[in-house]
Amino acid sequence: MPELIQAGMGAYISCSRLANVTARLGALGVVSSVGLRHIIPEQIRSGDEVAISLARTFPIARYVEELLSYAPGGSRHKRAIPIDVPDPIKGAFAKRLSVISAYVEVARAKLGHRGFVGINVMWKCSLTVLPSIYGALLAGVDAFLCGAGVPMELPDIVGRIRRGQRLDYEPLTGTGTHVHMDISEDGAENLLRDTPEPSLLPILSNFAFCKRLLDTWQKRYEGATPTAFVLENHAAGGHNAQPRDKVAFGESDDIDAYFDKVMELGVPVYVAGAFAEGGSRNDLLYWQGRGAQGIQVGSRFALTDESGMRSDLRDRAVEAQAEGTLEIRTDPRLSPTGFPFKVVSMKGTLSEPEIQASQRRACDLGYLLQSKRIQRPDGTEHEVYLCPAMPIHTYLANGGAIEDTEGRACLCNALLVTAGFEKEGRVPLVTLGESAAVGPVKRSAREVVEDILTPERAADNERRLALREPIPVAS
Ligand SMILES: Cc1cc2nc3c(=O)[nH]c(=O)nc-3n(C[C@H](O)[C@H](O)[C@H](O)COP(=O)(O)O)c2cc1C
Repeated sequence: MPELIQAGMGAYISCSRLANVTARLGALGVVSSVGLRHIIPEQIRSGDEVAISLARTFPIARYVEELLSYAPGGSRHKRAIPIDVPDPIKGAFAKRLSVISAYVEVARAKLGHRGFVGINVMWKCSLTVLPSIYGALLAGVDAFLCGAGVPMELPDIVGRIRRGQRLDYEPLTGTGTHVHMDISEDGAENLLRDTPEPSLLPILSNFAFCKRLLDTWQKRYEGATPTAFVLENHAAGGHNAQPRDKVAFGESDDIDAYFDKVMELGVPVYVAGAFAEGGSRNDLLYWQGRGAQGIQVGSRFALTDESGMRSDLRDRAVEAQAEGTLEIRTDPRLSPTGFPFKVVSMKGTLSEPEIQASQRRACDLGYLLQSKRIQRPDGTEHEVYLCPAMPIHTYLANGGAIEDTEGRACLCNALLVTAGFEKEGRVPLVTLGESAAVGPVKRSAREVVEDILTPERAADNERRLALREPIPVAS
C-alpha cells in the first residue's frame, strides 16, 4: 500500500492528468467521479484524440457509439448531455454515458505506467455511484475511495457488478435515493474476469461510522473489510462531515478525538486534512509515528499545474497564499448536499453573497439530485428527483420543504466552471482545505510528491512503475 494518496477532488480538480503523474511516482493517483458525464463528452465534442481513442477501447459497442455521437461530425455533436431521470428506460442513456465516461477518465490516468490509480466516488452524487463504479472497474481501477456519505453497500456493489448482476438499492444507505442499474445484457462477468480486485477505502470522519461500517461489511458481505479507512479532518477541502453539535466544529470533531480509537479497529488508516505543514514529509512521518499507513493530500495538488482547476483561479489562489491573504471559510448552507463546504473567498466567484444571490436557480446538470417518492391525488406513488438548489416552485411542487432551499447554490455548475467548462451566466467557486494557507506552494505535482516521499523514493518508484513497451495512445 502506498504511503501517499493524491486525493480525489471534484469536479475534475484531480483530473486524469494529475493522477497519471502522481501514480507514476508511486502515490495512489486518484481521479474524481464528479461531473464526468458532462466532462468526458465535452472532451469528445472538442475532438480530444486521446479521449476518443480511449473511448474506442471500451468493450461494449453501444456505449462507444453513444459517446462518440458527440464527436465532431457525430449525430449528437450539438446536443445537450442528458441528466438522470426516474424513468428507467429514458434514464438508461445518461447512466451508460456515466459508465463510459468513468472508464475513459480512469483509463487515461493509467496510461503509460504500472502505478496505482483509484477513483473517488462521491456518495452524495447517488445516481452516478453505480455507473461510476462499473465504468472504473471495466478500466481496471485499483481502488475505490468513497466520501461525502457512508459507503455501506460498496462491497456488494463491486461484487454484483463483477458477477454481471442487476443492482437495486432502495435507498442507497444514507442518501435517501433509490438507485438501480441493469447490466444483465453486457456480459460484465466475462469482461471483468481478469481485472484486479480493487481496494476499498471509505472516507469517514468519526469513530462511530468506522465501527458501524466495519461491523456491517463483516456481517453482511462475508467478512469484507475495508483495505483502509481515510480519516478526514474538518480542515480538509471540499465537503466536510457535519459538526457534532450541528453548529460549528469543536474539539470533539478533531481527528485527535477519534484517531486512536479507529486505530484499535485493526484497519489501516490514512489521514487527510490534518496537516501542520499543509501535507509535507514531516506530516507523513508524524502520522506514521502514530500508526497511520500514510496521508491523503488534496489542497497542495489542487494548486499544481497538472490540476484541473482553471489556471487563472489557481494563480489567484497561489498569489493570495503568497501574500498571506488566502481566506478559507466553512459555509454550512451553500451545498445542496447539506454538508458544510470549504469556500475560498475570491472576487467574481460564488463566494460573494451578491453574486450568489444573482445566480439563476436551475438544475440542468443533476449530479446532486435525490429521489423522492410522492403520492398522486389517486393515492398511487411515483418517484421524482429533487435538488434544493433547483427553482423553488419546482422543489416545493414535488414535495420539498422550503427550509431546505435557503442559502443553497448550484454547486454542479459552479464547480464545472471552476474546472474550465464554460457555462453562460455561471460563475466559478473555489474550494481548498486549510492546508492551502500553509506555504510555500509547489507548482508541479512531481515536486509535491518528491517533497512528501523524497526525490530518491519518487525516482525509484518511477523506474519500478515504468512500462517497458510503448503505449498505443499518447498521454
Ligand atoms: C479542491 C478540492 C476538492 C475536493 N473534492 C472532494 C471530493 O469530491 N470528494 C472527496 O471525498 N473529497 C474531496 N476533497 C477532499 C480531499 O479528498 C482530501 O481529503 C483533502 O483535500 C485532504 O486535505 P487537504 O485539503 O488538507 O490536503 C476535496 C478537496 C479539495 C481541496
